[in-house]
Amino acid sequence: MLKIVVCVSGGGTNLQAIIDGIANGSITNTEIVGVISNNHGVKSLDRAKAAGIPAFTICPREFSERADFHKAFLDKLAELAPDLIVLAGFLVKIPEEMVSAYPGRIINIHPSLIPSFCGVGYYGLRVHERALERGVKVTGATVHFVNEGMDEGPIISQKAVNVLDGDTPEVLQRRVMEEAEWILLPRAIDDYANGRIRMENGRCVRKV
Ligand code: GRF
Repeated sequence: MLKIVVCVSGGGTNLQAIIDGIANGSITNTEIVGVISNNHGVKSLDRAKAAGIPAFTICPREFSERADFHKAFLDKLAELAPDLIVLAGFLVKIPEEMVSAYPGRIINIHPSLIPSFCGVGYYGLRVHERALERGVKVTGATVHFVNEGMDEGPIISQKAVNVLDGDTPEVLQRRVMEEAEWILLPRAIDDYANGRIRMENGRCVRKV
């Protein structure tokens, strides 16, 4: 049974897709042993509690030093002892010590087709605002392993989503969530839980 910790910051729709995937059997061999948020009072915490999943808030603003926040985060992870850490709408830069503590065991969902519209400053709605400003006709989402960079780790999967005339950032974000994020992330977890994907020599290796 793969033990996962899901890290969240806000609404938790990707967390909900994972919870639902485990409940309906589309994600197998997986248990969410904890949810960690960097923000208090967000809907993702309600979603975890409603599903009976232990939920914790570790807020960087409550630590005088960033290093203390990182230590608290790593200590909680060590306590939960996950096999895989899933960043689902998590808006905190992962510290290097966390990447090295969990090599090939951290995955992230990003709401664009990496390498477009990613990296520093590209998160949440801003990704879709930039895509609309650029006038792309196709966008989408990417699941990738997390390395020391920002959205630079080995790509696991991607799914394209059409941009339609008249799209607002909010409408486009919702379409990318519905048509890509909520499909890709559960599938990646199920693949990892059943040994179909792993990170090897800095690449995503898929067992066919
Ligand atoms: C989504 O656009 C997700 O791709 C991004 O954060 C937004 C909110 O995600 N990382 P969620 O509803 O909190 O899962």
